[in-house]
Amino acid sequence: MSSTQPYHQATQSNADWQARKTAAIARGQGNAVSVYVERASNAELWDVEGRRYIDFATGIAVCNTGHSHPTVVAAVKEQVDRFSHTCVMVTPYDSAVRLAEKLNDLAPGDSPKKTIFVTTGAEAVENTIKIARAHTGRRGVIAFNGGFHGRTLLAMGLTGKITPYKNLFGPFPGEVYHAPFPIPFHDVSVEDSLRALKSLFKVDLAPEDCAAIIVEPVQGEGGFYPAPDEFLQALRAICDEHGIVLVADEIQSGFGRTGRFFCSEYAGIEADLITTAKGIAGGYPLAAVVGKAEIMDAPLPGGLGGTYAGSPVGCTAALAVLDVIKQENLVYRAGMIGQQAGKRLAGLQKKHPNVIGEIRAERGAMIAMELVKDGDAQQPDAELTKRLVARACENGLILLSCGVNGNVIRLLPALTIPEDILDEGLDILETSIAECL
Ligand SMILES: Cc1ncc(COP(=O)(O)O)c(C=O)c1O
Repeated sequence: MSSTQPYHQATQSNADWQARKTAAIARGQGNAVSVYVERASNAELWDVEGRRYIDFATGIAVCNTGHSHPTVVAAVKEQVDRFSHTCVMVTPYDSAVRLAEKLNDLAPGDSPKKTIFVTTGAEAVENTIKIARAHTGRRGVIAFNGGFHGRTLLAMGLTGKITPYKNLFGPFPGEVYHAPFPIPFHDVSVEDSLRALKSLFKVDLAPEDCAAIIVEPVQGEGGFYPAPDEFLQALRAICDEHGIVLVADEIQSGFGRTGRFFCSEYAGIEADLITTAKGIAGGYPLAAVVGKAEIMDAPLPGGLGGTYAGSPVGCTAALAVLDVIKQENLVYRAGMIGQQAGKRLAGLQKKHPNVIGEIRAERGAMIAMELVKDGDAQQPDAELTKRLVARACENGLILLSCGVNGNVIRLLPALTIPEDILDEGLDILETSIAECL
């Protein structure tokens, strides 16, 4: 590249970029919609053709503080001017220590906490299993049907959703077992799940061989199903009884998104280890494991980490994100967003009861709408879901789908979204549904 050529080139159409992307980037790394971003600000983005969109995706629950929040941008610029990388495992820096101290304070429960930093969510998940195995000296891990924990090999093994995450990628890591996740809408009760877990302990894995149980307080990719409080409390009790490490995967549900700083606070439990990523640094790659100090310290020095683990840019961004969350009262705001969107979606469900099977808006700004045929939970409408995502995009709204059956629309607006823009986005959603039927 010549020194005069700009690094930012966005002069072509979305279709042109999509053609170049398809030719240059392998199909395994797909994209939800062919919208090539020119710039983004708070809850809106603009594409290379100058079209404006309301963003209900926030880069999959990452930009909780909105795109390019001025406080975060200023902190990152200041950090990049000083230095961008030295490796926290070689010559560390204050931002990592200060951030760890803050995360240790924020993690629910009274036990003393410690933190490690990594780069991605999947890495955080993998590290919880390493830490749990080192602490317990045991091998087995239990995860849940429909759970999503990442795309690296062990995280994929823990993931309880085949398509598109596991197809063609076996053999899967050993000593990973799955149990049903309670979903009342699909007739799986808390009792059903706990009975299956007991059976798993009899059939596949003795509790004394189980190192960890990992659970999302709200299943994300699996379909935005909140774990009932009594389920998380029962898991806590089972783990206490058998000396198993309880891991709360808060990568999607954390950092204020659900109306609590960590979603597991709703159940009043103290997980042994918590994963956090996505919203932690407002768009800069950073992830962490926070947990009980006695468990976190089980691995030997050097056993955890990575070259970019706890990047100074990510840590500084995260410190700024925490300031913004506090200054703008975003944890509370997440709850308000859930209420505002929940009301609108409930009205929409009344209009289309055969199509909108269930609205889930009780966990702040992690909001979902499950689309079915004939009002029947057992008849998922993945085809309508796909059409709706595409139509909303044409109408200027970025939506994401999820769900084991691909029939859930999830809304993940920035917690900083102004009320009128949230309403405008919901208007577009309403129009788009009507157009798809
Ligand atoms: C609950 C949960 N765990 C783990 C991950 C993996 O995170 P990453 O994509 O940063 O590896 C995700 C990502 O969507 C997630 O939602």
